[in-house]
Amino acid sequence: MTIISKLAIAASLATALTSVSIAQDNLKGLVVGFSQIGSESGWRAAETSVTKQVAEELGIDLKFADAQQKQENQIKAIRGFIAQGVDAILVAPVVATGWEDVLTEAKEAEIPVLLLDRGVDAPEDLYLTSVASDQVLEGRVAGDWLVAEVGDADCKVVELQGTVGSTPAINRKQGFEEAIAGHDNIAIAQSQTGDFTRAKGKEVMEAFIKSSNNGADICAVYAHNDDMAVGAIQAIKDAGLKPGTDIKVVSIDAVPDIFAAMAAGEANATVELTPNMAGPAFEALSAYLADGTEPEKFIITESKLYTPADDPQGEYDRRKGLGY
Ligand code: AHR
Repeated sequence: MTIISKLAIAASLATALTSVSIAQDNLKGLVVGFSQIGSESGWRAAETSVTKQVAEELGIDLKFADAQQKQENQIKAIRGFIAQGVDAILVAPVVATGWEDVLTEAKEAEIPVLLLDRGVDAPEDLYLTSVASDQVLEGRVAGDWLVAEVGDADCKVVELQGTVGSTPAINRKQGFEEAIAGHDNIAIAQSQTGDFTRAKGKEVMEAFIKSSNNGADICAVYAHNDDMAVGAIQAIKDAGLKPGTDIKVVSIDAVPDIFAAMAAGEANATVELTPNMAGPAFEALSAYLADGTEPEKFIITESKLYTPADDPQGEYDRRKGLGY
């Protein structure tokens, strides 16, 4: 079974994946550079494998560069792609700022750049399109869930932020704060970066618990991704508390491990981020190369909420072989 067929049977991902079924014959034989951030999370691993497999199915020669979380490595890789004269460049930008020079160089070389899953603070004419979720909405969906969940009860939230300076960290924080604004019973008591990793999520959660009456003062943890939430769940258990009950857990990504935690009663809600950013990006590139069709500048993927009512074990089973 091909990756596209496998992904297509995962009902929750199906909408986002229909785009790759469109014939994109003109991409066959193209050389495309992909500057990936690294492998900080399960979601990131899935995006990498989906991108490679979609490229393979379309006959694209994908040149992959792992930046190990460093913007300087991404800039170096993009300059390398420009020097090689690739036909297009995909970039998942680790942080928002500092891209203008290198994107201008790509533009001058007439190489279209397509952004995947994160945005940049740079003039929009420097990239062809940006395929990403509405990250403010993701934070709002998570916050709305908590508002409905706690009702009038007092709730002190600890927040595990993503990578400092990245658009998902900035926007998911903003969206969550917007959702809880006006609900005086809910407040963010502590907030710190866990850099989107499981290990850092656990470490920071341990510190939050220590400074909050061994966790008794914490009602919920809001993590900007599932990996940090999984790390936090371990820290909560290590402190002798029950994640999902003593401390509610809400996060973003919808990776298999969060569904396993949800099935065990240890996580309460997640917001789905599809790992298939490449499908819509290649579709946009195909149309652009065919007749100059300018794609939407922002191609927005869905942000669906999942809770224990959504068959977490089934979701785990459906996703576990998809490259996470
Ligand atoms: O940019 C998307 C975010 O990056 C994902 O939510 C997170 O898991 C990843 O590291």
